[in-house]
Amino acid sequence: MDKFLIRGGARLEGEIRISGAKNAALPAMAAALLTDQPVHLENIPRVRDIITMGKLLAHMAAHVEAPELPPDRVTIRAETVSHAEAPYELVKTMRASVLTLGPLVARFGYARVSLPGGCAIGARPIDLHLKALEKLGASVRTEHGYVEARTPNSGRLRGAHILFDKITVTGTENVLMAATLAEGETWIENAAREPEVVDLATLLVKMGAQIEGAGSSEIRVRGVSALHGARHTIIPDRIEAGTYLVAGALTGGELRLTACEPAHLTAVVDKLRDTGVEIRCEGPHCLRVRGQPQLRACDLKTEEYPGFPTDMQAQYMVLATQAEGSTVITETIFENRFLHAPELVRMGANITLEGRQAVVRGPTALSGAKVIASDLRASASLVLAGLVASGETIVDRVYHLDRGYEQLAEKLSAVGARIQRVR
Ligand code: UD1
Repeated sequence: MDKFLIRGGARLEGEIRISGAKNAALPAMAAALLTDQPVHLENIPRVRDIITMGKLLAHMAAHVEAPELPPDRVTIRAETVSHAEAPYELVKTMRASVLTLGPLVARFGYARVSLPGGCAIGARPIDLHLKALEKLGASVRTEHGYVEARTPNSGRLRGAHILFDKITVTGTENVLMAATLAEGETWIENAAREPEVVDLATLLVKMGAQIEGAGSSEIRVRGVSALHGARHTIIPDRIEAGTYLVAGALTGGELRLTACEPAHLTAVVDKLRDTGVEIRCEGPHCLRVRGQPQLRACDLKTEEYPGFPTDMQAQYMVLATQAEGSTVITETIFENRFLHAPELVRMGANITLEGRQAVVRGPTALSGAKVIASDLRASASLVLAGLVASGETIVDRVYHLDRGYEQLAEKLSAVGARIQRVR
């Protein structure tokens, strides 16, 4: 299994180009199931989850074309679908496979998707996706570890009023896609407001969908009988950008991030500035971060967008280990998302956990160690810790990082980090 070997202490300096957002690209690929015409997507990140989604769509008999050059494009043509099914073997490696459920049942009146099960950071049920699809007229059955959803006589879904008990990103996306082909109007309340939801809505509108309110907590969709092909460029990855902002800040370096979207990073940038990090907006798609010798502790609470993203919590915790004073970090989205904390403690951090809160006392010098990553963002935080730790850090189970960060080691090496992939 691949590992990252990091020799800490290097100051990072230079430019990093931010890739397309994995969490926007995945629903966009699933949306291609809604039409028999080609959907061309650009700015697709080259990460493992995208390859998995490509395999899943190909398994359903969609035609997935990814040219060697340029490597960030994919064309999906789902003329027919022979298996409206997402098998366990693919779903277990990527929960976002559940995003095929809404489009399949909306277009073909039938879908069979393996239940994703729990994951390291919490139980992560999909009950809200299923309840919403039932409201849209699908009958949903769970058997043998699979969810089967079907419409009466394989007909169309019916528009409905859907009030989510809890804000769910992929739940909102699933229902949004399903509602585009439903008969009549769907009104979604307590919808997720994430930029990735807005990006999906933008693509769906290009495909002929009638959607209003994406980006707010109320979305209205007027169903149409068919959607057509479209061309779309995926938004930049705000979590990748946030991770490199922390990398620059931690190493006392100076990084220029290009092809990013500062407007999607407001909560992250504000929080980092509160700790004393200098961040400047240089034009519409560019941020410059400059690390400062002294950082201040500043409490953090994760929230749904536009709040501080849970996907940046682990990275922020590393920064907190280098700040003067106590930082209280409250995780409100997932119940078990502090798996990186014990590993950071092994590297010398002073962190105590109590339920959904972590208290980080800093600054503490970190020292390199062998650490094991438990999920995608936890792995990113261990790499960040390795960048400032003395000596060598080995981050095991790099496959988590490969799921969501495009060429992490290459991008970091190019700005001066001493990091390499080893077997
Ligand atoms: C998405 C992101 C993930 C991010 C998360 C929260 C993708 C592919 N993944 O995940 O990176 O960390 O949003 O911003 O976009 N819940 C239920 N029942 C449901 C659905 C969700 O109880 O049916 C709960 C979850 O367990 C969690 C909370 O709602 O506690 C939010 O989860 P959700 O927004 O659905 O996360 P994902 O869409 O899976």
